[in-house]
Order: sequence, then C-alpha cells, then structure tokens
Amino acid sequence: MSNEQLYSGKVLVAGATGKTGQWVVKRLLHYGISVRVLSRDAEKARGLLGARVEIIGGKIQSTTDIARAVAGCSAVISTLGSNAVSGESSPAEVDRDGVIRLVDEAAKAGVKHFGIVSSLAVTKWYHPLNLFAGVLTKKWEAEEHVRAVFGKDGRSYTIVRPGGLKDGEPLLNKLHVDTGDKLWNGFINRADVAELLVLSLWLEKAKNKTFEVVNDVEEPQSDLAKYYDLLPMA
Ligand SMILES: NC(=O)c1ccc[n+]([C@@H]2O[C@H](COP(=O)([O-])OP(=O)(O)OC[C@H]3O[C@@H](n4cnc5c(N)ncnc54)[C@H](OP(=O)(O)O)[C@@H]3O)[C@@H](O)[C@H]2O)c1
Repeated sequence: MSNEQLYSGKVLVAGATGKTGQWVVKRLLHYGISVRVLSRDAEKARGLLGARVEIIGGKIQSTTDIARAVAGCSAVISTLGSNAVSGESSPAEVDRDGVIRLVDEAAKAGVKHFGIVSSLAVTKWYHPLNLFAGVLTKKWEAEEHVRAVFGKDGRSYTIVRPGGLKDGEPLLNKLHVDTGDKLWNGFINRADVAELLVLSLWLEKAKNKTFEVVNDVEEPQSDLAKYYDLLPMA
C-alpha cells in the first residue's frame, strides 16, 4: 500500500510549533497526509513548518478560533504543553482547559479521532512534577475529557503517556509499552511519540487506547505498529 492510501483525511495539529509537534507534522507529511496547524503565532509556525502546511492563527482560549481550525478536519493531534506556572501558558490554561476546548469543538465539528500526548505518572497526584502548578493533574483531567467525548458515538481516541522526552530520529529503539500508569521512569524520543500518534489515525488496534511508553534498547525498527499489539483490548 502506498503512503498516500493510509489516511485520506486532513489532520489538525495543535502545539505544532513545539518539539513533539514538529515531529508530528514531519511524520504526517512523510505519509502524505494533509496537515493544518493551529498556532498563536502564525509567522513562527510558517517559519518552522514550511509551505506544505496550512496554518491558522488563533488562540486556544478562543472557541471561535478553534472552531475555524477544526472545520473540515477528520482528526486532531494535540501536542500542546504548558511552560509557565501562571498566565495563558499555565497547566490549567493549556494542558486542561485548552485541550478540553479543543476536544469539544472537534466533536462538534464532526472530527472522528483525537490523539494526544499526555505523560507518565498522570494519575499520581503526589508526584513531584505536580509542584509545577499541578501539571499532571491538569493533564489527567484533560485525558478524562478526551475519553468521555471521543470514546463514544463513533469517535475514537489515542492517549500516549510518554516518559521523559528526548530529541532524536524516530525508529531507532525498541519500545516498552504498558498500561495502568505503573512505570516510574524512562525516556523516549519525541519522534517515536509522534510516530505512534500518526499511526493511530489508521490502526484499528490503536483506537480507544491509553498507554505509557518509553524507549527500550537501541535497535532499528521498521515499524512501530506492532507495539499496539501489546496493549490490552479496549
Ligand atoms: N518534557 C518532558 O520530558 C515531557 C515528558 C512527558 C510529557 N511531556 C508533555 O509532552 C507534550 C509535548 O512536549 P514538548 O516538549 O514537545 O513541548 P514544547 O516543545 O514545549 O511544545 C509545546 C507546544 O504547546 C504550545 N503552547 C504552549 N502554551 C500555549 C498557549 N498558551 N497557547 C497555544 N499554544 C501553546 C507551544 O506553542 P508556542 O510555540 O507558541 O509556545 C508549543 O507548540 C507536552 O504536553 C508536555 O507536557 C513532556
């Protein structure tokens, strides 16, 4: 099968100017998939992502901007992430409320699949990372909303909970996947997280899954789809 036949819809990426988001865009383009991006800084997005990507300037605080961005898309991938303890880029604004708004507008617009980067330890309120304005708890609340809205009515979701994120090319390591938020440490290349989210667009076995993932030993991989086989059925 050629790459072009794997997924024919248009995908909105939120957080595309971030390190994982840029990899999501690269892997979508690798598979010949149409990409639209929602960014609060359209000029920055254009500079980073190039001319092959459709860019909508807008804020994740604005339902009107989000509605414009999701219109006509069949899937959304969110790699949004907070970077301040307060203000418009805080965990409450970005990781929770921004994602919740995106989920609601996407469902209203008829989007069929929602993929998102969350985090290892997201269920552990006592984890030290929560000292950063409750970031894990905010991500957990967003996850719950994704499952509630996209886990029904013919829609689907895939929630990837990575360990510590690193830079590097995709498909260089074996992966270790798990469920139930039992892993306490480990690292993974952002590019592998991006690849897993992109594969979730067309792999039935990736639908309605929430799972943790870290890199295992170095060993070139021809495909990451096989790791979805290791997850329990939804
Ligand atoms: N770092 C880790 O080790 C680690 C581990 C597990 C999970 N995670 C999670 O993985 C995800 C991806 O991480 P990353 O390192 O790729 O993140 P990143 O490079 O910091 O990218 C974050 C993205 O979110 C966007 N964003 C932030 N505040 C925004 C706002 N107020 N309005 C609109 N967009 C906003 C940024 O846009 P701008 O370019 O406009 O700022 C950027 O596109 C995040 O959710 C992160 O919390 C990280």
